This record gives sequence, structure tokens and C-alpha cells, in this order.
Amino acid sequence: MSKPRLYSGMQPSADSLQIGNYIGALMQWRDLQEAYDAFFSVVDLHALTQPNDPAELREKTRRTAAQYIAAGIEPSKSTLYVQSHVPAHAELSWILSTITGFGEAGRMTQFKDKSQRYGADATSVGLFTYPVLMAADILLYQADIVPVGDDQKQHVELTRDLAERFNSRYGTTFTVPMPVIQQDTARIYDLQNPTAKMSKSAESDAGVLWLLDDPAVSAKKVMRAVTDSEGSVRYDREEKPGVSNLLVIYAALTGRQIPSIEDEYAGRGYGDFKKGLAEVVVAEFGPVRERALALLSDPAELDRVLAANAARAEAVATRTLADVYDRVGLLRRA
Ligand code: AMP
Ligand code: TRP
Repeated sequence: MSKPRLYSGMQPSADSLQIGNYIGALMQWRDLQEAYDAFFSVVDLHALTQPNDPAELREKTRRTAAQYIAAGIEPSKSTLYVQSHVPAHAELSWILSTITGFGEAGRMTQFKDKSQRYGADATSVGLFTYPVLMAADILLYQADIVPVGDDQKQHVELTRDLAERFNSRYGTTFTVPMPVIQQDTARIYDLQNPTAKMSKSAESDAGVLWLLDDPAVSAKKVMRAVTDSEGSVRYDREEKPGVSNLLVIYAALTGRQIPSIEDEYAGRGYGDFKKGLAEVVVAEFGPVRERALALLSDPAELDRVLAANAARAEAVATRTLADVYDRVGLLRRA
């Protein structure tokens, strides 16, 4: 029996991923790639909805792909590719846009937030149709599950609605995917502002642990992380967001349970605890960084791996697209 399909992706929106991406997404992807026929894309077409310098976008795309691989996504096991390398994404997106309601797309909270922030003149049609392109990503591969963060759940719901609508209008064509929403315990907060999610676009660099940072820099950031004045290493999200966040990171990277870490540091100060965590962070990310930098030192080889994976993706995507074109009544080219 063939394995169920999985689809997920991330935007190439920074030179380095941060450890929230690693713990919240990549670690789960790495585990899931065993039981699923997994497709992981670097969604560069989506990234165009933000202003980008062209040379930088190319570089960020390579870097994001290298970090997927360095974190343990295996390009021989999973299909790891760049979205724009498979033209069917843009093509299916057009078809799906013709069955998406204007009001339906306008209800997407991410669009509402972003368009409000940018203002009407700086809001592109691409930002509006962003979720339709995301639906095309998922539906082209007949994905059964889509692991995403909470903020993307609504987009996967839209994807399900579009799949069901298309299927009922034109006959069963798409698998209706299930979102798999990341656990709360996998959410990482900013080290300096531990009630805000750690993010690539954080205001201050001091609160963000970058995957490609020098390990000594990351260790220093851990040592300077905001805590509280109580002095006991204890999980309490409400009262002790800083310490709780550090405990979550510690537990995620070591596979240990939070109470066992609390026990280990009982009666010891935050200094000891942070030193322990800094060691864990260096031990985990040192090798990831080395692997990513090694991959990036040979861009031609990396591009070759991405091309081979894109060919695999394209074979699946083209089949779905041809079926869709037939069903909606586009005349086949002779
Ligand atoms: P983004 O960088 O926001 O595009 O997110 C890419 C992926 O990383 C998504 O699956 C997010 O849910 C996940 N992610 C981003 N930031 C965090 C965080 N601070 N904690 C946990 N997961 C995160
Ligand atoms: N929109 C997603 C994000 O910002 C990225 C994404 C694009 C995606 N296409 C996808 C995620 C398909 C899952 C499946 O995180």
C-alpha cells in the first residue's frame, strides 16, 4: 500500500530560519517524512507578495532549501523543491481562482490584517489571491495532510472548501486535505519579549535565535534571555513566560519532559539553567549550521538536487493539472 501524502512549505523570507521554524515546523516535518510521501516546497511565488530584492530572493530561496536539508529533510526520501520550478502551481491557481468567491477570499484574516497594515494602495491582488495559490500547492499533490501553524488553518479550510466545490461541480478530482495544526508546546516565543511569537521579522535581533547564527552568538542570546525575579526554574506560561519558553525549547531539543528538567534545576539559579540550555542549543544547531553552510558552499550541487526533486514534483503536478483542464472543458492541444 502506498503511503499517504503530505504537503507543506515555507516562504523564503529571511537569510536564516529561526528556531521557532525549526521546532515548530522542521522537526515535525523530519519525523513525518518517514510515514508519509512528503512534499516540502520553498514557496518563492508566495514570497513575491512582499517587496523583495531579486538577487536576495534567489539567495534566500537557496538558503531556505539548504536549511530544510540540514535539519534532516532528506531529498532522497521526501520531495523537496522550489515552488516556481513547477509551473503547474500558477496554472492551477488560476483555475481555482475562478471558483473562489470574492467575499470568501476577503474573509481570510491574514489578508485582512496585512492589507490593513499596508493600506489599500500597497495591497496587491497577489496578496488577495495568496490563499488560492496555497490551495493549488496542496491540491496538485493530492495531499492527505497539511502540517501548518495555527495562522494557516483558515487557508487550509479554504483549500478544503475549494476541493469539495470542484469535486461536486466537475466530479471527484482532488483529495480533500486535513490540516494538522502544530501543538502549543511547539510554539516558541521571543527571548526578549516572551509573550510575542519568535519571528523572522522581529523588531530586535536579541530575542531571535537564528539557525545560521554562530553558536557562540546563540549561546550569548540564551544567557541574556528575559526571565523574572522569582529565581526558580518552573513552568508557568502566565506568570513566568520567559522561563517557560526556555523550558519548552530545552524540552523540544532534548526530547525530555519539562518536569524532569525542572527537577534537574531545582534549587539552582537561572544562570545554571541558561548555561545548560546554551549547551543544548549549541549542540543541536552547531551541526545543523555546518551542514547548511556546506550545502551552500556548493550551490551548483544544491541546484542539481533541487532540479531533480522539482522533476519528481512536476510529474505528479502535471498529471493533476491535465485532469483539471479536461474536467473544466479546456480544449486539449493536438
Ligand atoms: P513563517 O516563518 O512564519 O512563515 O513560518 C513558517 C513555519 O514555521 C510555520 O509552520 C510556522 O508555524 C512555524 N513557526 C514560525 N515561527 C514559529 C514559532 N515562533 N514557534 C513555532 N513555530 C513557528
Ligand atoms: N502560507 C504558508 C505560510 O506562510 C506557506 C505555504 C504556502 C504553505 N503554500 C503552502 C504551507 C502549502 C502549507 C501548504 O506559512
